[in-house]
Amino acid sequence: MPNSYYLCNDYEKSRNEKSRNMENPFKFGTIVEAEYFTDRQDEVRYICQFIQSPNHLILISPRRFGKSSVVTKAISQSGRKSIIVNLQQMTSVADFSAKLLREFFKVHPLERVRHLIKHFRIIPTISTNAITGSMDVSFQPGVDAFILLEDVMELIEKAHSEENRIIVVLDEFQDILDLDVHLDKKLRAIMQVQKHINYILLGSQESMMTDIFEKKKSPFYHFGQLMRLDKLPRHDFYQYLTQRLEGCFAERSSDLANEILDYTSCHPYYTQQLASNVWQIGILQPEENNVIDAAIENIVMTHGLDYERLWMNFNRTNKWILKQLALEDQLQTGEHRTSTIYSALKRLQKDGYVIYTDHYELEDPFFKEWILKSCQ
Ligand SMILES: Nc1ncnc2c1ncn2[C@@H]1O[C@H](COP(=O)(O)OP(=O)(O)OP(=O)(O)O)[C@@H](O)[C@H]1O
Ligand SMILES: [Mg+2]
Repeated sequence: MPNSYYLCNDYEKSRNEKSRNMENPFKFGTIVEAEYFTDRQDEVRYICQFIQSPNHLILISPRRFGKSSVVTKAISQSGRKSIIVNLQQMTSVADFSAKLLREFFKVHPLERVRHLIKHFRIIPTISTNAITGSMDVSFQPGVDAFILLEDVMELIEKAHSEENRIIVVLDEFQDILDLDVHLDKKLRAIMQVQKHINYILLGSQESMMTDIFEKKKSPFYHFGQLMRLDKLPRHDFYQYLTQRLEGCFAERSSDLANEILDYTSCHPYYTQQLASNVWQIGILQPEENNVIDAAIENIVMTHGLDYERLWMNFNRTNKWILKQLALEDQLQTGEHRTSTIYSALKRLQKDGYVIYTDHYELEDPFFKEWILKSCQ
């Protein structure tokens, strides 16, 4: 056997050994920062610049396009104080007020603002969590939650100035009406007199967000600047993937990056998810030739039960629409009335199963794969 064989084999072995010890360079499911964050330079620059004005920003995109990540990056680059609350995780107006106050204490130690809390009409119970060291806040049950909210919002306003505005991010803002049907009016009344806060309001339900900010009757009509986030630009995402895949697939990284992006159409979350799986297979099954197909199969199989449960709960029209979209077939076939298709599409979009960029498509490429396999 020629010497070069041994050399090559040793090289392979040591490369595989090195890769095995390397951390998976892809991340999905949480906010991405630092080396996991790519591109969005224009958006970050725009947000940083925008929050230097006394205006408010409304950022809309379908789920998992990277809203939280881009806002986190812009805030950290701006070096400004911020409070972030996800309204989807709140159970009531009182809960929302308590959360705002807890977040406020993360940027203003209690000792420095105690004098401002004395003005609260309902005094909160504040204690230090012995384990985390953070502040726990609770209010007596049954009190008027809108008074709590007013007092907390006034505290945030009073602790800042026009020269030193704080940024308050309210994520999944379209859920305000789930907390209380009057919360939009109340919140708007409070916010419109504040001068020391930049609000950034995020939402992933396009139609609800545009209703809130674009309908004349809504209290939040034209409250701030609307901004929409697209998928990541292909060129930047390609470079990001190629560089990271090189550690595991030296010669094929560029082809694999292209195949991943073709499959996910540059959706930020699904691209990172697929790339992460491809990497994993490259490390654990280096003999696998068709690494993309293996990774897709792996993801579809992992989510198979969820997809099946989802599918069972769709009515017949929705199933038909999802199938047509999966097959990339026409929706206007005469099988269903146009108005029926349109309203079903709107509902599917609102629930996050379908997205519209320049055409309607299934949000999750792996669910699409599952539909194609299951409905053959
Ligand atoms: N700039 C980016 N660079 C690389 N990956 C990104 C970027 N932005 C988002 N992602 C990917 O998308 C995922 C979702 O990002 P993020 O949580 O910021 O989106 P979101 O729009 O806030 O989602 P949600 O609708 O669930 O709140 C991240 O975990 C990451 O995998
Ligand atoms: Mg988010």
